[in-house]
Amino acid sequence: MKLILLGPPGAGKGTQAVRLVKHYGIPQISTGDILRKAVKEGTELGTLAKKYMDSGELVPDEVVIGIIRERIVEPDCEKGYILDGFPRTIAQAEALDAMLAKMDTAIDHVVNIAVRDEEIVKRLTGRRTCSNCGAGYHILFDTPKEEGVCDKCGGKLIQRDDDKEETIRARLKVYRQQTEPLIAYYEKKGLLRMVPGEGNMEEIFDAILKALGEDFDGKSV
Ligand code: AP5
Repeated sequence: MKLILLGPPGAGKGTQAVRLVKHYGIPQISTGDILRKAVKEGTELGTLAKKYMDSGELVPDEVVIGIIRERIVEPDCEKGYILDGFPRTIAQAEALDAMLAKMDTAIDHVVNIAVRDEEIVKRLTGRRTCSNCGAGYHILFDTPKEEGVCDKCGGKLIQRDDDKEETIRARLKVYRQQTEPLIAYYEKKGLLRMVPGEGNMEEIFDAILKALGEDFDGKSV
């Protein structure tokens, strides 16, 4: 299964990707996570990416396309993968199509998770991430057992640099201009599955499985 998770920043792509990884046993490929790791490690890629990410702009297409080209040929991607945060422009989507066509394969489904802007601002200003293992939390909607501490590894929970309200609004603007046109792009190809992204996280996961043609026990319907 080769899946794309589309949606605005804070739609819950990462939250649902974790559940899909468990369900399908395929890896999540998040360009945001890959870029943040590079920033943390202070690599050349990280230094380049940081200035775009801090202002809510997109990292140049050729950089992220290069990252994906190398990642999808790794052995753990043989049975498929979940693309989270890629593609984000029409140029990235076309490059992905060309890459996959050369490998004699294609994307199976594109899930678009829809959430209103004000809900997104609430979600992202309250998001916390483990500085050690990357697990995601929310100060109101998905709280850890002990405040500021990761349930999974005991790491310190931090706020992402780009989760300040001003940067969130800039990211939303970039999303509307550059990423939203992908909805029509994939609709034309018959790959688009629309899922409402507001409400209980488990119910949204069930809605995604249903949109992918499964019932809640994971059987095909
Ligand atoms: P990236 O890391 O991809 O960020 P994003 O797309 O803006 O998405 P987020 O990670 O912010 O949100 P999400 O949808 O995963 O939501 P989450 O599940 O965490 O990109 C960051 C930057 O990297 C970009 O701005 C760009 O600069 C660069 N970049 C990355 N990819 C690129 C590309 N392809 N091209 C160019 N540049 C690229 O949920 C958010 C919060 O809400 C969490 O706290 C969660 O607990 C909570 N939550 C989730 N679901 C619910 C729910 N149902 N109810 C209540 N709360 C919920």
